[in-house]
Amino acid sequence: MLEVRSLSKSFGGIVVADNIDLSMRKGRVLGLIGPNGAGKTSLFNLISGLFPADAGTITLDGKPLDRLALHQRARLGLSRTWQHVRLFPSLSVIDNLIIAARDYPGERLTSVLLTPGKVRTAARSAREKARETLERMGLGNTAEKSVGDLPYGQQKLVGVARALMNDARCLLLDEPMAGVEGRTYEAMQRVVREVASSGVAVCVVEHNVAFIRDLCDEAVFMFQGRILGRGSVADLTANPQLTELYFGH
Ligand SMILES: Nc1ncnc2c1ncn2[C@@H]1O[C@H](COP(=O)(O)OP(=O)(O)OP(=O)(O)O)[C@@H](O)[C@H]1O
Ligand SMILES: [Mg+2]
Repeated sequence: MLEVRSLSKSFGGIVVADNIDLSMRKGRVLGLIGPNGAGKTSLFNLISGLFPADAGTITLDGKPLDRLALHQRARLGLSRTWQHVRLFPSLSVIDNLIIAARDYPGERLTSVLLTPGKVRTAARSAREKARETLERMGLGNTAEKSVGDLPYGQQKLVGVARALMNDARCLLLDEPMAGVEGRTYEAMQRVVREVASSGVAVCVVEHNVAFIRDLCDEAVFMFQGRILGRGSVADLTANPQLTELYFGH
C-alpha cells in the first residue's frame, strides 16, 4: 500500500534518511526499531509530509505523494500520531476528535450564514463518527472529559483515536507505548490489531520490543538513517551486530 523508494534527507551534516526503501502492506503491522536518534521519527515526518525529502519517492496505492503537503496526504488516508501527544488539553476528548474530522466545516461565518443546514449535518456526522471511534476503542466514557485530566496512557489512546478520524488507510504510530502501562497496554495492543485487521497498513515505532514482538510479523531495524535489516522481531533481536548497535548506543 505504501512504498518508499530511495528516500534521503539530511539537515546540514546530519543524514536522517539515507537511501531508504520501505514497503507497508494492507492489514499488516510493521515494526520500526532502532536506537535513539536512528531517524525513526524523521522517517515518519518525511512520509507524512512534515518536511520534504531531498531525494526519493513515496507512493500510496501507486499515487505519488512527494509534491503533496501534510494535509493533502492526510486527506488521502495517511495518518500518524506524535511521539509526544499533541492534543488540546483543555478541550474535551470528543472535541479533540471532531476537529480532526475530514471536511469538518468549522465555524466559518460565511458557511454558517450561507449553508447552515450543510454545516449542521457535517457537524452532526463528525460527532457521530467521533463517538463511534471512542466506543470502538473503549474510551466511550471519557468523551466529555478534558483530555488534560486523563491519565497519560489514555491520552495516547485518544491520540490514536484522533488519527483514525480521517479514515486512515495507512497509519504511522510513533512510540504509542511510551508512558503507557497496565490495562492501557492491552487496550493499545487490541486497538492496533483491530485497526490492522480492518485493512489498514500500520507501522509502529517502539522501544518496547515485547510490544512489537507480540504485534508484528515483521520489523525493520534502523540506524543512522539507514535500514540495516528486515525480518521477524525474533531474528532481528537475535542478531548480535544489531543488538550491539542498539544497546551500545
Ligand atoms: N528538523 C531537524 N533538524 C535537524 N536535525 C534533526 C531534525 N529532526 C531530526 N534531527 C536529527 O536527526 C536525527 C534522528 O532523529 P529522530 O528524532 O528521527 O530519531 P528517532 O529514531 O526518532 O529517535 P528516538 O528513538 O529518540 O525518538 C537526530 O540526530 C536528530 O537530532
Ligand atoms: Mg523518535
